[in-house]
Amino acid sequence: MRVIVESDAIGVSRTAARFVADLVRRKPDCVLGLATGSTPLGLYAELIRQNREEGLDFSRVVTFNLDEYVGLDGAHPQSYRCFMQQHLFDQINIDPRHTHVPDGRALDFESHCEQYEKLIRDSGGIDLQVLGIGSDGHIAFNEPGSSLGSRTRLKTLAPETIRDNARFFGSADAVPRLAITMGVGTILESRRCLLLATGSPKAQAISATVEGPVTAQVTASALQLHRDVVVVIDPPAAGWLTRRDYYQHVETSQKLLQSGQWSALNLER
Ligand code: GLP
Repeated sequence: MRVIVESDAIGVSRTAARFVADLVRRKPDCVLGLATGSTPLGLYAELIRQNREEGLDFSRVVTFNLDEYVGLDGAHPQSYRCFMQQHLFDQINIDPRHTHVPDGRALDFESHCEQYEKLIRDSGGIDLQVLGIGSDGHIAFNEPGSSLGSRTRLKTLAPETIRDNARFFGSADAVPRLAITMGVGTILESRRCLLLATGSPKAQAISATVEGPVTAQVTASALQLHRDVVVVIDPPAAGWLTRRDYYQHVETSQKLLQSGQWSALNLER
């Protein structure tokens, strides 16, 4: 796992946008896995800016979102489809037919979930999956106890998640109880994962994800099994990490390597 601690939340968004934009430029028909929540908002704002001001082209990009509340249709203001339209899709030159969000009103959830997995496979698989993290360490809606091999399916939300998301619905009672979510196994098949977190409420979850044991009780910890994960966080979210100096040292070494400053690494040319 590569851990990048930026100086603030703006730095997190800029760095995350650099990873996404570099991929879109290198592979214009790439497949992006996208997340909702407040954390990726700055990333999306930066992508919109680059689309408008720098011509970052999304016309051939395909996207798959991680999850959706069950019971909400795409027009509901709190649905993740609506979130994505508002905060990204309606503001960039993406083809609406290329954007996929699970359907919270699907009649047959089992076949809808299977179809979602098939669509991801048929698109060639996800090149870069953007992830936030729940305060209980979940990714997408894979609540503690989810199988680390799970696939897209129906999931019952944990009380912590209902509490955390009550702010968007006015009260905890109004938060849907079920969601469709990509599984941990689905996420692990992405070629690269980009996990973002900001603020002290995420510090414990980030420490468990990066430095704790791999456990279904913290589904983000399964990312330790993935070969290409980049964690981008701000100092409050890094607050519980014990090896922060080392992560910083790794980043410095990488920069020295890339700029050819061999002697600073005690290397001879
Ligand atoms: C929900 C979403 C997750 C997201 C999490 C954190 O549970 N299903 O994908 O990572 O919220 O959201 P926020 O970024 O608002 O803290």
